[in-house]
Amino acid sequence: MVKQEKRVDSNSTDHKGDNEDAESFEEQPLDTGDHYLARRSDTWHPAEIIQTRYNDQDGHYEYYVHYEGYNRRLDEWVQRDRIMSSRFHMSDQQWKNNEKNSSDLLSDQTDRKITRNQKRRHDEINHIQKTYAEMDPTTAALEKEHEAITKVKYIDRIQIGRYEIDTWYFSPYPDEYGKQSKLWICEYCLKYMRLEKTYRYHMSECTSRQPPGKEIYRKGTLSIWEVDGKDHKIYSQNLCLLAKLFLDHKTLYFDVEPFLFYILCEVDKHGAHLVGYFSKEKESPDGNNVACILTLPPYQRQGYGKLLIAFSYELSKMESAVGSPEKPLSDLGKLSYRSYWSWVLLEILRDFRGTLSIKELSEMTSITQTDIISTLQSMNMVKYWKGQHVICVTPKLVEEHIKSSQFKKPRLVVDTTALRWAPPKKTQTRTGKK
Ligand code: ACO
Ligand code: ZN
Repeated sequence: MVKQEKRVDSNSTDHKGDNEDAESFEEQPLDTGDHYLARRSDTWHPAEIIQTRYNDQDGHYEYYVHYEGYNRRLDEWVQRDRIMSSRFHMSDQQWKNNEKNSSDLLSDQTDRKITRNQKRRHDEINHIQKTYAEMDPTTAALEKEHEAITKVKYIDRIQIGRYEIDTWYFSPYPDEYGKQSKLWICEYCLKYMRLEKTYRYHMSECTSRQPPGKEIYRKGTLSIWEVDGKDHKIYSQNLCLLAKLFLDHKTLYFDVEPFLFYILCEVDKHGAHLVGYFSKEKESPDGNNVACILTLPPYQRQGYGKLLIAFSYELSKMESAVGSPEKPLSDLGKLSYRSYWSWVLLEILRDFRGTLSIKELSEMTSITQTDIISTLQSMNMVKYWKGQHVICVTPKLVEEHIKSSQFKKPRLVVDTTALRWAPPKKTQTRTGKK
């Protein structure tokens, strides 16, 4: 734990009055590891001080805080006026109440199956994370280690093309780049720079206007490029470093050769602007058809994520293989995949007459049987019968789900006639994973 040199007394900040002036706070910076109530979008939350830094320009301390129970994406640098003066103890009633509200969802309701789904959805939508106690010991230990290494994200912002974007997580940019608060990134070749003037110079020199590799899809202004990590190593590494700023759990940055990258762009008269991508192992022993998937924040929630997901399944269909995204899925990854899977399955179930097995659904969609079962379970459409899962639906139940808020027709769909791609020659079977 980092201790502050200027610190005077560990309890000195405990009982300060709220009206104390900013000057005296600066003399005694708060301790890392201590808990306070911190203000996030107008409400106060229990938060841990992860790191302290002195802002030379403004002449005061700033604090990197983690809001208890929330996704680390929301961790941020805040100034002292957003932290309440008295320390916060985890045993405080207020915190207990918070926890209780969340578990009440499970215990107070009668239909446990529905409420478990509701709680899962509630937690996913609100970005609530599992606590260490809710994890198995190995996962908890790995998670603690991961959090220790990636505790503070130094790079707060990036400039890429016309967007300045707040970052979400730590990314291992090499030393002198990794400690910058802002990085400048060429939107075409993805080169990263520390200084605006270097960036301006680069933009006048750089000849790239699109990703390297092969354009395999073009529909209107949307295009998708296939980039082989082996042929375009630097570009692929730069893409992974950039993506890590928005992905908590992915560890691929430098060993890019075994991967293909599918880059989604919006094209205009200036060039092909990076919107998002997914990566895919050339040979996946686990049957994964996506390793990492990302939509850059300015483009999120406009349907690009589900377009990329749909595209990954179109490739699997052409390979006559089934596939699943690499685990763990992030909270936003889960929401997007569940939304895509529900839509695909409900569309088929709505139009299909007769009986359909889970295996057949899997063959039609390239979604694994495991993912199909979990999706159908979330809609109460599957029964366990004589040792197997069987689909159990009525047209009425399908219609109810289609009318519900969980069912969203995608804004963007893949037009397979615009796809110019043939599967690489490799030994893969339709069995995939489970
Ligand atoms: N809060 C709540 N719901 C959200 C949010 C959000 N912040 N963002 C997306 N969603 C929902 C959308 O409402 C939509 O569901 P709906 O159509 O049923 O309403 C669904 O998620 C997908 O929305 P899209 O617009 O198609 O997806 P988007 O372009 O936003 O991309 C993605 C989704 C790729 C997961 C994006 O959020 C992202 O890049 N996140 C950061 C990186 C990440 O977590 N990637 C997944 C990791 S797991 C893996 O890589 C295998
Ligand atoms: Zn460039």
